[in-house]
Amino acid sequence: MSEFARLPRHVAIIMDGNGRWAKQHKIKIALGHRQGVEALRSIIRESSDLGIEALSLYAFSTENWKRDPQEVDALMGLLLEFFSSEIDELDEKNVCIRILGDKAGLPEKQRQAVVSAEERTKGNTGLHLNIALNYGGRAELVLAARTLAERVRKGEMTPDEITEETLAQALYTKGLPDVDLLIRTSGEMRLSNFLLYQCAYAEFEFPTVLWPDFTLDHYHRALREFAGRDRRFGGRNE
Ligand code: IPE
Ligand code: IPE
Ligand code: MG
Repeated sequence: MSEFARLPRHVAIIMDGNGRWAKQHKIKIALGHRQGVEALRSIIRESSDLGIEALSLYAFSTENWKRDPQEVDALMGLLLEFFSSEIDELDEKNVCIRILGDKAGLPEKQRQAVVSAEERTKGNTGLHLNIALNYGGRAELVLAARTLAERVRKGEMTPDEITEETLAQALYTKGLPDVDLLIRTSGEMRLSNFLLYQCAYAEFEFPTVLWPDFTLDHYHRALREFAGRDRRFGGRNE
């Protein structure tokens, strides 16, 4: 039995603060990102053990290409390392991996690694682990609008059949519940273009800890906080 009265079905995390962490420790930014990956492993494992349905992690935004090429290379390198070192354990844990974002815009090696991870785990029925890579919430909505427009053009659906549900089915998160809890570390309080549609009624938590220092304790605190929230969805609970 879980220690939490109520668990979110879908947790989204904006893993922020690797750069500041590196600065604090007077080390290269790449090492801050490396430490960030360490923090990630235990959060994924715990989410799977707790029986959370979906975990969406913001790893690289469509805007992150603006960063110094060296930093972008370091992040892309870590991505490959992550997939090659974690895939066996994730698959064993029955985790189903999905990439949110434009995979075609990734470098070829990275694209192949993520596609093969998706292929290998697509039949798994445990935690849905979504990794947002080259992801932008607005780009996702534009893509969905195009997909639906194309279906209408082909006569497969009528404009009236464009509903909240059919739009949701045209998003990368197709088939998954809306985000219940969004956590952003490092004290920043913004969405930075993450899961704009899916966060309509999400509860937000903004712990000030920098991502590489985010531990299971911090995660549990956020989950307990979530369990105590009064979610009304526009209605009344009393
Ligand atoms: C988040 O950490 C990781 C990515 C964006 C990939 P940052 O690198 O944004 O860390 P800060 O915000 O500079 O501290
Ligand atoms: C959001 O963080 C993206 C990721 C954590 C991957 P950023 O650090 O890129 O966001 P801004 O620039 O502070 O809004
Ligand atoms: Mg940041």
